[in-house]
Amino acid sequence: MCTDLVRRGLPVRAVTRSGTPVEGAEAVAADATDAPAMRDVCRDAAVVHHCLNPPFTTWRAAFPAATRALLAAAGAAGARLVFADDTWMYGKVDAPMREDTTVAPVSSKGVLRAWLAEMVLAAHARGEVETVIGRAPELWGPGVESLLAAGIFGEAAQGRTVRWPGDPDLPMTAGYTPDVGAALVELSLAPASATGRVWHTPVPPAITGRQFVERVFAAAGHEPRIGRITPAMVAAMRLVSPIAREGAELLYQFEQPFLVDDSAFRASFATRATDWDAGIAATLAWYRADPDRTRRAAGAGLRARHQRGQNAGVSTPLVLGIETSCDETGVGLVSGGVLLGDALASSMEEHARFGGVVPEVAARAHLEAMAPMVRTALQRAQVDLADVTAVAVTAGPGLSPALQVGLAAGKAYALAAGVPLYAVHHLAGHAAVDVLDHGPLPERCVALIVSGGHTSLLSVGDLARDEIVHLGDTVDDAAGEAFDKVARLLGLPYPGGPAIDRAARDGDPRAIAFPRPLTGPSDPPWTFSFSGLKTAVARWVEAHSDTGGTLPVPDVAASFQEAVADTLARKAVAACADQGADTLLMVGGVAANSRVRSLMEERCAAAGLTLRVPPIRLCTDNGAMIAALGDLLVRADVEPDPLDVAADPRARLTGALLHGIRALPVA
Ligand code: KG4
Ligand code: ZN
Repeated sequence: MCTDLVRRGLPVRAVTRSGTPVEGAEAVAADATDAPAMRDVCRDAAVVHHCLNPPFTTWRAAFPAATRALLAAAGAAGARLVFADDTWMYGKVDAPMREDTTVAPVSSKGVLRAWLAEMVLAAHARGEVETVIGRAPELWGPGVESLLAAGIFGEAAQGRTVRWPGDPDLPMTAGYTPDVGAALVELSLAPASATGRVWHTPVPPAITGRQFVERVFAAAGHEPRIGRITPAMVAAMRLVSPIAREGAELLYQFEQPFLVDDSAFRASFATRATDWDAGIAATLAWYRADPDRTRRAAGAGLRARHQRGQNAGVSTPLVLGIETSCDETGVGLVSGGVLLGDALASSMEEHARFGGVVPEVAARAHLEAMAPMVRTALQRAQVDLADVTAVAVTAGPGLSPALQVGLAAGKAYALAAGVPLYAVHHLAGHAAVDVLDHGPLPERCVALIVSGGHTSLLSVGDLARDEIVHLGDTVDDAAGEAFDKVARLLGLPYPGGPAIDRAARDGDPRAIAFPRPLTGPSDPPWTFSFSGLKTAVARWVEAHSDTGGTLPVPDVAASFQEAVADTLARKAVAACADQGADTLLMVGGVAANSRVRSLMEERCAAAGLTLRVPPIRLCTDNGAMIAALGDLLVRADVEPDPLDVAADPRARLTGALLHGIRALPVA
């Protein structure tokens, strides 16, 4: 609108909080809620355009104050006040909205809008200041990254699925910003007889959301791909984001025909609505003029909004990682390989009396802990959700109900922050976490993953891009599972790994010669099996209890632990030799075990191998590992997942992303 005024050769003073320069206008920085400041900036004005739109979350405080200040300032200057309004005060309607449609807001912002309009017209009626209101439906067009347009133009420009925020087959009208601006200018120059009332600014003939989106795709030269923002997505968004919570109350507009009647304006003024296609072409050009804008709007979000430390001035990604595959609710924030902050809640104690994780109990605990953990991690990292440039979330493998909670939260945060989502593989996260303390991984290494659910020897290259090759896996129990089961046999608490680790400190690892499964010359060299070892411990405990003596728990624990450590070390070191790898990466919950660590250290040193093991705190499940993996994916320009990506509780590890890696097309 400013440009419109400037084009008409009118002297313009553009007032914003930061004093953003506008070509041809005098730019002034001032706060609209500051009444004396407004009186000052409006002092010599003939017209005051009140086009303010404070951030949603500050609406209730800022809007009335600013409107009061501007009414007073315009009144003092003898200027006309033109108020840019929206249609939220009408609420749910069953007919096209006219200027005399009953005011019946259904949102808190609609209520506030109704009140502000009332205030503006009342000041006119009292003769304090001449006012007129231009009212437009949801905005779109070049120059605005609006609720309606941002998700549509960016996605369509890249040929990706557009999500419509409601029923796409209902007819709608929308306010094309240049038309709205022109109409407001026209109202500012209109005769006094046009003031003291509301005018609906001109709109083109109604089309459906689907038709609108199809035309955007056609203009962008891509096949249309249209999806919906489902009520579940909206509900999830509302849970996690104050901005989404504020915006969600307006989505009713897309669940009803959304029609504005502009006949009054058309009968009295010259400005006509731009047709849809011309508007679409101009808007698309505006998005395309700035690839950053397109990406940001598309949620490809590789725009780095986060600036930090030694990189001051250089922007880097900031990835929010979410982990809920088992009983830990983990949240981490990683930027360029640096862990900025994380938070962890565990429902471990709630499962202890069942001797294992109860999926539904874990899921409920995740639900309760999710938002607080995100808040805590953000606080520790000293960043805002708005600083986040991508979200990574564990989508499998794990306990289905538990995964669902984290994935829903991940989607919600991504949607709320308008950033891309990466649905990642939990085990790849275990591997990725090591870069936080030890820097980038070598070009290729052998990785030993030893967790509660998995035991695998892998050949790993570029974690973000390359396929992960399985050298061997466990044919039955995982190493961590064996720890947990043996702990139960020994009457030790859940989780068994740390309990055995502690008990073993006072025991003799050579007291009992437990088997080293599958380490014979004719056994498959990279395959594991721990079920037989567990049975051997069970037999020994049984036989011992028959003798009536007390169970030497520390000796059994130490001997069992030694058998596991020895088996893992033999196979891992041999695999490195076989693969010609000079680095062994050992990760997962069992990598927290003190004997597994020390024995692996010894054997690697003897074999001339570099051993990389994450710090103990990051070996077991956490959010930092998922953020670390997301950070690698973002930096490798890997294309994110769509928001309807599904969890897979049994996903096999083939790479970082649960559903495969796609490199971003080179723009
Ligand atoms: O990686 P993780 O936290 O969760 C899964 O992805 O499964 O691994 C959990 C497993 C549990 O079985 C737990 O008993 C084991 O890691 N664990 C340990 C130790 N700390 C955790 N096992 C042996 N010694 C430990 N200190
Ligand atoms: Zn894990």
